[in-house]
Formats: sequence, C-alpha cells, structure tokens
Amino acid sequence: MFFRRTKYSTVRIQRAIVAAFCKFPGRVRNVVYRCAGINYGDADIRYNVLITNPEKLIVGKHCLINSNVSFIFGASNETIELGDNVFIGPGCLLTVVTHQIGDSSKRAGNNVYRPIRIEDGVWIGANCTILPGVTIGKGSVVGAGALVNKDVPPNVLVVGVPARIIRQLDNCCG
Ligand SMILES: CC(C)(COP(=O)(O)OP(=O)(O)OC[C@H]1O[C@@H](n2cnc3c(N)ncnc32)[C@H](O)[C@@H]1OP(=O)(O)O)[C@@H](O)C(=O)NCCC(=O)NCCS
Repeated sequence: MFFRRTKYSTVRIQRAIVAAFCKFPGRVRNVVYRCAGINYGDADIRYNVLITNPEKLIVGKHCLINSNVSFIFGASNETIELGDNVFIGPGCLLTVVTHQIGDSSKRAGNNVYRPIRIEDGVWIGANCTILPGVTIGKGSVVGAGALVNKDVPPNVLVVGVPARIIRQLDNCCG
C-alpha cells in the first residue's frame, strides 16, 4: 500500500521506512532518515515520532524530539522549523494545518496552513499542543500540557490552556 506509485509515493516510502524502523535507537533512526534523503543532523529523535512530511521538518543542532511527538503537515508547503538546542517533550503535537469553520454540514472547512517556528534553546514540556502560525521565541519554556495558540516572546515561561506567560526567564538557570 505504501509503495503504490502516486505523486506522493516518495513521501509514502519515507514514511514506511521511518515507521518500520521506529523501534531502533536514535542514532540508527537518523541513519534511516538519511537513507530516505532526510538529514536531521545530530538530533536525538526518540521512539514513535510521527512526521507526516519529513522533508518539511527543519531541525537545528543538538535537538531532542522525545517519544510520541507528532508533526502534522497535511498537503501544505509550510514548514516546522526547530532552532538549535530545542527539546520537545513526549507526546507533543505540532500542526501547521487548521480549517476554516465550514457550514453545519461540514464544520471542518477548507484547509489553512501556517508555519511553526521554535527558536534556539526552547524547551517544550510533555503533552503540549503547538497550533499553526506560532513562533516560540528563543530561550522560552512551555510547561507540560500547554496549548500554544499565539506567539511566545523570548525568555519567558508559559503554561496552561491557552498558554499564558507566568514569568520572565533571565539568561541563567531557573
Ligand atoms: C513549568 C515547569 C518547568 C516548572 O517551572 P517552575 O518555574 O519550577 O514552576 P513552579 O513549579 O514554581 O510553578 C509556578 C506556578 O506555575 C504552575 N505550573 C507549573 N507548571 C505548570 C504546568 N505545566 N501547567 C500549569 N501550571 C503549571 C504551578 O502550579 C505554580 O502555580 P502557583 O504559583 O499558582 O502555585 C514544570 O512545571 C513543567 O511543566 N515541567 C515539564 C516537565 C516535562 O514535561 N517533562 C518531560 C520531559 S521533557
């Protein structure tokens, strides 16, 4: 099924390869990605990470993408861009896809796509959702379980649904 020749066949093959090898350790998985023509550099990508369009995920240096994270692109040309030293906690969902609200016969109307950008040094805790169009500024932290629907400035801690700033972070720890 994955290997049927369609205009999306390359992506299907990549998905199949990635899925088939998803129980391997991070380093082996990166080799598999490279075989599929995708280079995530030295990223540590853990188990069961879903990347619907691997070529649209741009990953900086020394990133960690924890288990059960999903990157959803749909038919979009938009990208999800991770800077350097970005950590994404387990179970997060980042989607560039939303819908216009349609009429009552089909509320999930036309697709709308907007890029996501996660800047250098950001830590996103477990089970967060990052909605289309969001930029999370350099050095910020997103607390576990947050839903981020607006841009987050640099060096702040946000938590909650929807995510709100609870404090500024300076350049030091804590
Ligand atoms: C945000 C976090 C880093 C804690 O930061 P902190 O500065 O130590 O914050 P505190 O624990 O002092 O909490 C400050 C306030 O924010 C609240 N808070 C902390 N984390 C929260 C979260 N994830 N969601 C909602 N509220 C949260 C606290 O209840 C507290 O509120 P209060 O002042 O009304 O009591 C931590 O709670 C967190 O979410 N860590 C993520 C863990 C994770 O996902 N691990 C997986 C590995 S990547």
